[in-house]
Amino acid sequence: MINKVLEDSYRRYAAKRPLSAEQHARARTFLPSGTTRSVLDFDPFPFTVASAAGCRLTDIDGHVYLDYLGDYSVGLAGHNPEAVREAVTPVLENGWSFGTVAAEEAEVARMLCERFASMDLVRFTSSGTEANLVALSLALKSTDRNKVLVFDGGYHGGFLSFSRGRPSLNVPLDAVICDYNDLESVRQAFDQWSEQIGCVLVEPMLGSGGRIQAAPDFLKGLRTLCNENGSVLVFDEVQTSRMSYGGAQALLGVRPDLTTLGKYIGGGFGFGVVGGAETLMLQLARGGERSYDHSGTFNNNRFSMAASLAMLRDVLTPTSLDGLFARGENLRKHADVLLRRHGFQATGWGSLIGIHPTDVAVSRALDLAGADRRPVELLFHELLERGIYIGKSGFVTLSLPQTPQTDDLFLSALESSLQVVSAVGR
Ligand SMILES: Cc1ncc(COP(=O)(O)O)c(C=O)c1O
Repeated sequence: MINKVLEDSYRRYAAKRPLSAEQHARARTFLPSGTTRSVLDFDPFPFTVASAAGCRLTDIDGHVYLDYLGDYSVGLAGHNPEAVREAVTPVLENGWSFGTVAAEEAEVARMLCERFASMDLVRFTSSGTEANLVALSLALKSTDRNKVLVFDGGYHGGFLSFSRGRPSLNVPLDAVICDYNDLESVRQAFDQWSEQIGCVLVEPMLGSGGRIQAAPDFLKGLRTLCNENGSVLVFDEVQTSRMSYGGAQALLGVRPDLTTLGKYIGGGFGFGVVGGAETLMLQLARGGERSYDHSGTFNNNRFSMAASLAMLRDVLTPTSLDGLFARGENLRKHADVLLRRHGFQATGWGSLIGIHPTDVAVSRALDLAGADRRPVELLFHELLERGIYIGKSGFVTLSLPQTPQTDDLFLSALESSLQVVSAVGR
């Protein structure tokens, strides 16, 4: 039954979007599946955006969507934020891609070190994936070890994705995969490979793996185990740094050795950072006893540097981040009440929410592994039909231009969509 209803919703969607359908057909000729980011690929085809402003997207067929995806958390400031536009306009006038330095990069570095207590020094990259690759390399070089401990469902980039049983394009890494929130499995791994595990790479909330919060003692326990075993603790805060002015680590009171950031800090331009303890970061300085070259043509690209400077200085204030966090907690609570009436639930933390088609308690990726995701796909299409855009797998991300009024629109669309999904049955 649900397959037929889904097919109907694809047909209805396609009939309303002839121009996006044509665009997709052209794209398929030269791009596998017509896309260049697998996460954006959904049935029957993604709509093509013509313009965006604030928390709204307009597609080339003229449909307007309230954006509750926020480009998978990049869009914290919304679309075309004034502060970023003003910051990149002088770059267009004065030039970019110099092959030497510009003033912004040292200032962005200073501001990051000021915010994140665990960062003495930082290095920029073009993406979160690259930042994590640098972090892993620094950790393994500094410990002279070869294994990396990661978590099932952990997503650290296109080449660093650790879901058991799912094929990946990962770089060759000797990875030990444990269960999120299961400190005992980490302890056992250290018992077995204490001399080999060079680092633990963890998201302070399992992000793409389901937006699953860390239990209070989990991250503190990882800190202790890393200390006891001489391993480097790396926090991937590409998603969670939005939780407070000093990131998730400030809220949780855990100090990692290295932290990676990316996404929204670049204001929508390519961005990545690895930062941390001086002893580790100085491996990237010239002339040290153990020093390594690390370059990247776009590490200091002026658009990203100018945009991130504006984001850090003008947009990502303690007030705006705390407000976003509180609105997210409130929205998740209200959404969860509606969802649970229909056998779904909302997980997440602050302004990052995940919708799942199950009401079992979720503390690790395995708890979601067996769930039939088709009801979430149908919910996604029903929300689109009502002019609300979320991630195809149930991801909801808040942004600053949204308001309590848009949250109410979201909740009312969610309620009526759930009624349709429930009527179909599973
Ligand atoms: C937690 C986390 N780390 C790393 C990345 C990779 O960042 P990027 O897509 O900029 O390479 C992502 C992207 O979704 C992420 O969610």
